[in-house]
Amino acid sequence: MKLRNTLPALLVVLTLPAQADRLPLPANPAYVEECGACHLAYPPQLLDAHSWLHVVNGLDRHFGSDASLDAGNNNARRAAIADFLGRNAGGRKTGVTADAKGQPLLRISETAWFRREHREVEPAVWKRPAIKSPANCAACHTRAADGDYSERSITIPK
Ligand code: HEC
Ligand code: HEC
Repeated sequence: MKLRNTLPALLVVLTLPAQADRLPLPANPAYVEECGACHLAYPPQLLDAHSWLHVVNGLDRHFGSDASLDAGNNNARRAAIADFLGRNAGGRKTGVTADAKGQPLLRISETAWFRREHREVEPAVWKRPAIKSPANCAACHTRAADGDYSERSITIPK
């Protein structure tokens, strides 16, 4: 039966392009609560585990904000978030997310992967009032909250 052998292979090929623009967020209420309050709960797949550890260990000096976890048992909560990010971290998609000196990058928007995917976006576009920063994924990726980064869901604000 030829069909039996070719069909699974064909399905793999057909699903690949769809997966490239989909970054579903694995369920984790603590991560969404603590890391989705000021910005999108970024896809863990877009930094490697080393980078995430540095982000989580520096929350009191977080890109000019204090993002320390407040109230209660925050050491356990921070450890749980670090564990979640580590388990779901990238590497396969983004490669190692460090700078030329091997220091972990803390910004998805500074990784080689991000720059490559966004090379068609003119520098001035990032500065538009409705966008402000490359970190503002949802300004252009209108379905980013659902993990959908497909081309058809992109609208670049004027
Ligand atoms: C108090 C608000 C606040 C909280 C809470 C917060 N962040 Fe942020 N985060 C920021 C700000 C502000 C920036 C810089 C945004 C910019 O450059 O436009 C940022 C940027 C980032 C970036 C870099 C984005 C990029 O690629 O340029 C990462 C990664 C990040 N945050 C992860 C986290 C994680 C993980 C948590 C939860 C532990 C968290 N943030 C909680 C305010 C916050
Ligand atoms: C100024 C608008 C803008 C912002 C802000 C932005 N992107 Fe993009 N993004 C684009 C454009 C344009 C493309 C290229 C689309 C293409 O050529 O298919 C792209 C491509 C992508 C892709 C690849 C999609 C595919 O088809 O494989 C991913 C994933 C992605 N962006 C994630 C992010 C993340 C995560 C952030 C925030 C840290 C972000 N983007 C911020 C506009 C933006």
